[in-house]
Amino acid sequence: MTFTNVTVAGGTGLLGFHIAEALLNDGSFKVKILRRLPETPNDKADSLASKGATIVYADYNQHDSLVKALRGTDALISTASPGLATGGYDFDTLQTPLLNAAKAAGVKRFIPSEFGIDYAVGDHLITDTKASFREKVVNSGLEYTIILNGLFTAYLGWLAFDIQNKTATFYADGNTVVAATSLSDIGKFTAESLKLEESRNATLRVAGSRLSLNEILEKFEQATGSKWKVVVDKEVKHRFQNNIDPVPSPMDFFKAISLEKPSLENIDNDKFSFSPRPLIDDINALVQMASM
Ligand SMILES: NC(=O)c1ccc[n+]([C@@H]2O[C@H](COP(=O)([O-])OP(=O)(O)OC[C@H]3O[C@@H](n4cnc5c(N)ncnc54)[C@H](OP(=O)(O)O)[C@@H]3O)[C@@H](O)[C@H]2O)c1
Repeated sequence: MTFTNVTVAGGTGLLGFHIAEALLNDGSFKVKILRRLPETPNDKADSLASKGATIVYADYNQHDSLVKALRGTDALISTASPGLATGGYDFDTLQTPLLNAAKAAGVKRFIPSEFGIDYAVGDHLITDTKASFREKVVNSGLEYTIILNGLFTAYLGWLAFDIQNKTATFYADGNTVVAATSLSDIGKFTAESLKLEESRNATLRVAGSRLSLNEILEKFEQATGSKWKVVVDKEVKHRFQNNIDPVPSPMDFFKAISLEKPSLENIDNDKFSFSPRPLIDDINALVQMASM
């Protein structure tokens, strides 16, 4: 099946922008960015519109409004996020209206807002809402692709590597293998997935790199030209779940969960036409950003 008209819900977001850019750079897609009403000024939307994207708005609580915005769409890529930084966590409630409207509007393929790791039900409240929504997508009758890319390389600092203080904090063994991918490569993988036969009703696992925490630390040390301090704390999950002092923050608990299954086995990179950029390029960019 050929997908020409592609809509990105949440295309103004951190990842959605890079996926929309990759679709536009590819040159074979007509790209729409679906935004929430009310209309608000947005630099990323302006930038994508200047490259040829159409910006459409809908009220996620109004089925007809969403259906109207999605008419003519062949593939809907959801990168919508419930605003984790401000306490939102429910990907299922957020995306269910999108899925219902996509069916009503005749959308052929749905790519849900996953873009992470292989989690299991019961791991965490946030991923549980992704899991329940994933089930709805799989049973929807629409074609689907689940894209797993490990961690965003842009999030390595947040996860474990504090560049300002040259300190690595490991909530898992240093030999834990972490799959990580740059935002621009996730964009390219997602855009190209629409052209792959193997992406139909499938989970595709892709990774820019698969290195252990210790190996990633070596790259941060190389990029900063200094030896880092390492703090190891493997009890974060246990202390959080059992309310033991010092009780970790919910964010530190989420980091510990993220490091439980970050390795992504059976990578599908060889199905794609390009090689992802080397991790050191992203680490150098993170180090440069931290010095600004
Ligand atoms: N693997 C990793 O390391 C990693 C890291 C971060 C995120 N992720 C995943 O990547 C996906 C995208 O995350 P992101 O950080 O790029 O998202 P984001 O920037 O937080 O948000 C994406 C877009 O969602 C829309 N949005 C925000 N709040 C909303 C709400 N309450 N209701 C409806 N739409 C809302 C907004 O678009 P408009 O305002 O234009 O409508 C926003 O630009 C998610 O599945 C997330 O879990 C993975």
